[in-house]
Amino acid sequence: MAPTYTQLFAAACALATTAHAVTPIEVQGKDFVNSKTGDRFQILGVDYQPGGSSGFSTTQDPLTDADACLRDAALMQGLGVNTIRVYNLSPDVDHSKCASIFNGAGIYMVLDVNSPLSGGSLDRTDPQGTYNAVYFEQVFGIIEAFKNFPNTLGFFAGNEVINEQSVYEAPAYVRAVVRDMKDYIAANANRSIPVGYSAADVRPILVDTLDYFMCNMENSTTSRADFFGLNSYSWCGDSTYVESGYNTLVEDFSNASLPVFFSEFGCNAVMPREFTEVAALYSDKMDSVFSGGLVYEWTEEANDYGLVAINSTDVATLLTDFKNLEKQYSKLDMTSVESSNSSQTSKEPVTCATSLISTTTFLNSWDLPTVPSKVADWIKSGYTNATVGSLVAVSATTIPQTIYDYNGNKVSSVKYKVLASDESNTPNNSTSIDSSTSNGTTSSTSSSSSSSASSGSSSSSSSSSTSAAAGLSTSVMGLLTSATLFVAFLL
Ligand SMILES: *[C@@H]1O[C@H](CO)[C@@H](O)[C@H](O)[C@H]1NC(C)=O
Ligand SMILES: *[C@@H]1O[C@H](CO)[C@@H](O)[C@H](O)[C@H]1NC(C)=O
Ligand SMILES: *[C@@H]1O[C@H](CO)[C@@H](O)[C@H](O)[C@H]1NC(C)=O
Ligand SMILES: *[C@@H]1O[C@H](CO)[C@@H](O)[C@H](O)[C@H]1NC(C)=O
Ligand SMILES: *[C@@H]1O[C@H](CO)[C@@H](O)[C@H](O)[C@H]1NC(C)=O
Ligand SMILES: *[C@@H]1O[C@H](CO)[C@@H](O)[C@H](O)[C@H]1NC(C)=O
Ligand SMILES: *[C@@H]1O[C@H](CO)[C@@H](O)[C@H](O)[C@H]1NC(C)=O
Ligand SMILES: *[C@@H]1O[C@H](CO)[C@@H](O)[C@H](O)[C@H]1NC(C)=O
Ligand SMILES: *[C@@H]1O[C@H](CO)[C@@H](O)[C@H](O)[C@H]1NC(C)=O
Repeated sequence: MAPTYTQLFAAACALATTAHAVTPIEVQGKDFVNSKTGDRFQILGVDYQPGGSSGFSTTQDPLTDADACLRDAALMQGLGVNTIRVYNLSPDVDHSKCASIFNGAGIYMVLDVNSPLSGGSLDRTDPQGTYNAVYFEQVFGIIEAFKNFPNTLGFFAGNEVINEQSVYEAPAYVRAVVRDMKDYIAANANRSIPVGYSAADVRPILVDTLDYFMCNMENSTTSRADFFGLNSYSWCGDSTYVESGYNTLVEDFSNASLPVFFSEFGCNAVMPREFTEVAALYSDKMDSVFSGGLVYEWTEEANDYGLVAINSTDVATLLTDFKNLEKQYSKLDMTSVESSNSSQTSKEPVTCATSLISTTTFLNSWDLPTVPSKVADWIKSGYTNATVGSLVAVSATTIPQTIYDYNGNKVSSVKYKVLASDESNTPNNSTSIDSSTSNGTTSSTSSSSSSSASSGSSSSSSSSSTSAAAGLSTSVMGLLTSATLFVAFLL
């Protein structure tokens, strides 16, 4: 009996997903580590929120438009990025295509679980009133949506919740959210996905905030954060390690027992940005304390931090900052960036104690709120009202949009390349997006597309990002024409 399209589609997916998947990253001591090779993983990242806050609704977020994701993943491959951070996500929509596109490109995702909609986050002025089941529909919905992707690097339990406006008890509530998320993942996901917090650069309480989240509580071990992000814009223009205050940050975080990274960096007080902080961040001055960082931000929005301008759905322009960042990345010594260090990976946390906290206005006890009963039920049995994502095959190699560089030259042959399993994206001079400054000359990027990409990859714009299966065995491919593959993906 002839197999149905659905059966063929399922078979194609299974093959393709096992063929191309990044290796999950885990936390060891104060480093991120590749769980297979043991190599260190440092974040070479960008913050990804096309459209800013208006790019988000319950039906649309930065990881729902596959054509846009394909364009951005292809451009990020050329830039040398290995991680994106996405702030606002909806648990009600499917993210499988975009997450799979970034996975195929060797790009990890750090995902905020909160949303700007009502009930979608802890209120820093009323954490007690907002730590409830309604909030956890958002939190657990996002975990369900992304738990199955190997390129989910981690989840942020909160972003800049604790600041000058937050109430005294706020840290205990955020730490409780970390606990509940980690307990949920332990019971309902099949790998241990790290959970952390992203802090504002409020220097007077920075060390207290770090200590509050990273210390170990014997009576609640899962409430300890797995990593710590810092949003910091203190290096402006062609600054220095000392002038920027980076030396102070290194001192402040010198005792850290978890991975610390910039969850946002890239001051724009001096334009264009040269990104000279990149050389400092990944150098031996900083790399025992920082695991890299994410540049704010991918797209040009009203606040003027973009690397890329999205002119329309069909046209995008690489801005000067893109070129400058690419140049800085290409100077990195990736062997050093990826080298593991046993004194780093064996770092142990200290035990929580009142003496760790030095600011009188900062909470110095760890009496965490008890889990609301409905939330406890979901931790035990799973939250089922969610759109669970899973890897789908991606074989597109050409992107449908037209790309210009900052001189107005068309950048041709931007390629999306499915990397081999276990590979993550790295800066690579020979695949960088290279455009000439003279007009009329187009430039080239990476040479050829993935060898195993199927013929289902289409040059027509509507299907290119969603079609077909890379890595299909030839026997399965023999059964499938590109037309049937295309039809299958539309179902
Ligand atoms: C974990 O789940 C993913 C997605 O469902 C699956 O591909 C993978 O094989 C599972 N791993 C284990 C160890 O069960
Ligand atoms: C680091 O730990 C040492 C020893 O416990 C302590 O004296 C020092 O104040 C700590 N520094 C920071 C910035 O936490
Ligand atoms: C796209 O937008 C950017 C930023 O506004 C602008 O500099 C660029 O010229 C535009 N490109 C095209 C092709 O319209
Ligand atoms: C890129 O080229 C520069 C200069 O030739 C070299 O120093 C650097 O190591 C290269 N970077 C990568 C990632 O290959
Ligand atoms: C390993 O890390 C420690 C700090 O954690 C640092 O002092 C040491 O220099 C590092 N070793 C190498 C070879 O980088
Ligand atoms: C758990 O331990 C922390 C300090 O390590 C303490 O502040 C808290 O009161 C303890 N909680 C319970 C329920 O014993
Ligand atoms: C399930 O999710 C949908 C969509 O988010 C929502 O409209 C509905 O109220 C939820 N149902 C329950 C029982 O929570
Ligand atoms: C390059 O050519 C385009 C289209 O002809 C034009 O708009 C742009 O201004 C030119 N750029 C430079 C640097 O001459
Ligand atoms: C850089 O890209 C070229 C072309 O795709 C590839 O042959 C080479 O192995 C890559 N080098 C590194 C260090 O990844």
